[in-house]
Amino acid sequence: MKGILNMYTMNTIIRIAPHFVGEIINVRRIISPLKKLRYMVFGLGNKTYEHYNAVAIYLDKRLEELGATRVFELGLGDDDANIEDDFITWKDRFWPAVCEKYNIESTGEEELTRQFRLVSHAAGEIPPENVYTGEIARLHTYQVQKPPYDAKNPFLAAIKVNRELHKGGGRSCLHVELDITDSKMRYEAGDHVAVYPINDTDLVERLGSITNADLDEIFSLINTDTESSKKHPFPCPTSYRTALSHYVEITALPRTHILRELAEYCTNEDDKKKLLLMATNSQEGKALYQSFITDACRNIVHILEDIPSCKPPLDHLCELLPRLQPRYYSISSSPKLHPETVHITAVVVEYKTSTGRVNKGVATTWLAKHKPEPGKPLPRVPVYIRKSQFRLPLQPQTPIIMVGPGTGLAPFRGFLQERAHARANGKEVGENILYFGCRHRDQDYIYQDELEEYEKKGDVVLNVAFSRDQEQKVYVTHLLEKNIDKIWDILGTRNGHFYVCGDAKNMAVDVRNIVLKAVQEKGGKTEAEAVQFLKKLDSMKKYSSDVWS
Ligand code: FAD
Ligand code: 2AM
Repeated sequence: MKGILNMYTMNTIIRIAPHFVGEIINVRRIISPLKKLRYMVFGLGNKTYEHYNAVAIYLDKRLEELGATRVFELGLGDDDANIEDDFITWKDRFWPAVCEKYNIESTGEEELTRQFRLVSHAAGEIPPENVYTGEIARLHTYQVQKPPYDAKNPFLAAIKVNRELHKGGGRSCLHVELDITDSKMRYEAGDHVAVYPINDTDLVERLGSITNADLDEIFSLINTDTESSKKHPFPCPTSYRTALSHYVEITALPRTHILRELAEYCTNEDDKKKLLLMATNSQEGKALYQSFITDACRNIVHILEDIPSCKPPLDHLCELLPRLQPRYYSISSSPKLHPETVHITAVVVEYKTSTGRVNKGVATTWLAKHKPEPGKPLPRVPVYIRKSQFRLPLQPQTPIIMVGPGTGLAPFRGFLQERAHARANGKEVGENILYFGCRHRDQDYIYQDELEEYEKKGDVVLNVAFSRDQEQKVYVTHLLEKNIDKIWDILGTRNGHFYVCGDAKNMAVDVRNIVLKAVQEKGGKTEAEAVQFLKKLDSMKKYSSDVWS
């Protein structure tokens, strides 16, 4: 059984960026066909993206073609609906099928075993300089910074500017300028900057108090599988305070397997049953998970507060919780104008839940609290730059259409800076047509002054949709629909580029449909021809999306 279990953990969840697909084909040429490999694939995708689970689908097919044996059918998870539900439904069918295939008798019960062993270090046992204090991979990388900077060795960038962009309305949108002088990091307009966030101190304290832990205790979690290349779940030795602040996600909604493990620590039988039920694939269990966890947005702290008989040891929680991930931001500046700073435009995530709690986004809340103050050293945040495919045309004369409501404006601020800079330096620059949308002109019209100044100088043709300034909603899509002649003119006859940035779920899909309509109606193409036309624009990077959900 162990062999299968290992294979299961290694192979079920495969998340590979599309550009690795080519690598897999190349690997085939080097190594022999994969005859001995038994595999199954469960893809983690999101239906709002055009290439939904494309890599999982490809991998599942390709592994079979290369001679590997598929142990169980491909599973596809959709994060836009309920990926947890998709996974446990798939997993519950997967186990009996595997047992049947390999003639194994299943007890029907999952054995809960810890993957990591706790080693508590007595006070003074580990010299302080050997204790991790939040470094992502190597000790002391925050004290002694050395390029090149990347995901494992982020640069501690000083926050030079951090100001509010909204003029009212109760929500907050930050304009942040990060100093990258001396970092040797370079960026281009359209790239992303990744920010490593730190969890809220209050939540960390609450978790420490609920679990009766000493947050300053130094500990290590050591893999019980001594052959595993992953010795620890995160850098160890460290303190519980550091682990909860820097290394694990304490605000995400816990997956069902965590609830399954938590159940073991309940002293009240009803509490135990409730947690176990939520971890099952039954209709009742799924409905309870949906209402108690998803709809009520309960994170681990909320769950333990609301199920007080559940008292897991903090080291086991640290093992179970997923690793805290960096957050990406579309850089809202151009290096032509700002070679030494990277700008971020970020909406602060904050919402009230049905339990009356206020949930706050990790990265944006941290950023909102870290503003430069006179007489104090500038706050610093670990960052790195991720190259993107979202690029201006090589020729500045090429006309462009940009659609970016809300913070979708971010990369287009960089694009406009770049093209205005080129024009100011005597270059011939094509039309820059921008569609921006927000709720109210006098509240969340971000960078209004800059945009209107560009408009005055002829650097941009501005189309702004204020969705809530009148009775009927007006969106960028409504404005675009009125201008389908222009869309076809730019894309079909003038070889221009089209960009969309922001919400992947609705806006980007609606925008694509409008462009399809323009190609059909103004380009005289059938629906199938229009789809092909747009696919070609995609592959030539003339239609580009930078979207998130
Ligand atoms: P988190 O702690 O990650 O919390 C966010 C989560 O809270 C959401 O995923 C959702 O599950 C939940 N949530 C939020 N609101 C609600 C609600 N009302 N009800 C229930 N649940 C809710 N963001 C920008 O602001 N500007 C950008 O330029 C930008 N660029 C991006 C570029 C890329 C390529 C990607 C992938 C994302 C980008 N984002 C951008 C999003 C950004 O990365 C973060 O996801 C965002 O800032 C929230 O991070 P956080 O840590 O503050 O919130
Ligand atoms: P709303 O909040 O009033 O619905 C930035 O978030 C702006 O995008 C807001 O004005 C928001 O309007 C609007 N918006 C919401 N859904 C949209 C969609 N499908 N297409 C375009 N804009 C949308």
